[in-house]
Amino acid sequence: MSLTVVANRVPIRATDNGWETSVGGLTTALLPVLEEQGGIWVGMGEEPDLPVRQPFPADDPDFLVRRVPLTEDELDGYYYGMANRVLWPLSHYMIQHLDLHEGFIETYRDVNRQFAEATLDESPTGDDEVIWIQDYHLMLAPRLIRQERPRATIGHFWHIPWPAMEVYRILPWARELLRGMLGCDLIGFHVEEYVENFKESARVLLGAEVSDHAVHFDGHTTRVEAHPIGIEVDRFEQMSEDEVVVEKAQKLRQRLGTEHIVIGIDRLDYTKGVLSRLEAFEQFLEENPEYHGRVSFYQIATPSRTKVESYQQLKREVDEAVGRINGQFARDNWVPVNYRYRTYTQFELCAFYRAADAALITPLRDGMNVVTQEFITATQNGVLILSELTGAAYLLPEALQVNPYDQNGLARSIKEALEMPDADRRERLTGLKQSVRELDVHRWAQAFLSSLTA
Ligand code: G6P
Repeated sequence: MSLTVVANRVPIRATDNGWETSVGGLTTALLPVLEEQGGIWVGMGEEPDLPVRQPFPADDPDFLVRRVPLTEDELDGYYYGMANRVLWPLSHYMIQHLDLHEGFIETYRDVNRQFAEATLDESPTGDDEVIWIQDYHLMLAPRLIRQERPRATIGHFWHIPWPAMEVYRILPWARELLRGMLGCDLIGFHVEEYVENFKESARVLLGAEVSDHAVHFDGHTTRVEAHPIGIEVDRFEQMSEDEVVVEKAQKLRQRLGTEHIVIGIDRLDYTKGVLSRLEAFEQFLEENPEYHGRVSFYQIATPSRTKVESYQQLKREVDEAVGRINGQFARDNWVPVNYRYRTYTQFELCAFYRAADAALITPLRDGMNVVTQEFITATQNGVLILSELTGAAYLLPEALQVNPYDQNGLARSIKEALEMPDADRRERLTGLKQSVRELDVHRWAQAFLSSLTA
């Protein structure tokens, strides 16, 4: 098999000491496959002057990075526009953030064509040619590639939710984008619910014929399957047991000085429910004065898509909520909400996971949520409070599940987590750890690729 991965971002980044592979689920899962057998990774070139073709590592290359160089206008229309202001909010049911500009889809069509051309340039033709496209940035590329290479094996993995058909059809270009995706042989989603939504969209909007796990359209069959993504469990387990991490976690507990620590860790994105979570914590403090001085909430928010206005607005609202809660409740040495707006390494995050008694993971909608799996792997006896509107919730029934839109329920769940008897905690965590181990990211890549090439 010759593998070409096509994704918005390339898997390597420049550092002070040269180029290195970036950390992230997708890179972790796919690089071992590319390293083992060679291959190509096509992704955008966000800045001028980056090489279009970059064998990596330079001294003894395992695979080729092929960039699609984008101008600032292309980046604005395709990435900041169509991907982040249209497909992202729509797929997460947050249509109040939708910004439907004809210019966005025009640039998106053009950039998808450029990705398809770069893929066709690099990917060797032949019967064992396998092309694996990733995510909502590249919905049109599959059909464009299929038109030129009818015999190629083409897969696509969609990393976010596929919304209900009635929401998806709000998109003026819904049919065109679906036709683009149906150039694939296999489309993967995290859970069956998204598979069903996709099939329903194809059936109603295109009049396609759908069967158990397939869509038949225009003389071609596309299989549609659930392949839930995982994390690299062994590495997270090792990191969380590292003595530096253990010591950092102890120091954090000493520094905060409270009996209980609750954490939240997210990209600062309106889908993650950070604001509602802060409001729920505020309500919890109002209703439970006996916890004043005894619990700290530590929220880490990683800067993300900062050029988009709705993300700037969210940052202001979160800053304000943190200020308001601390202004009202802080006393002596107790700061109820500790808030950090910055990026941490995975190693550093492990110390937070380990220090916490509970994690509040309450997105308003999330395709999977891998922070959940990282917390479960790193914690020793923590409680997971998990939004039922995440892909993870379908797979992790032992979590304390909450509706993130229900502030009363969220506030109650914090108390329940802090007061959960030890035996209950242990039993739930054992089940959670087992499920996360089964989801391992290397298995995810293998399972998708073997189904794609079957
Ligand atoms: C989600 C998407 C990814 C994306 C990531 C970070 O997880 O599914 O494709 O890479 O968010 O967002 P960004 O826009 O910074 O790539």
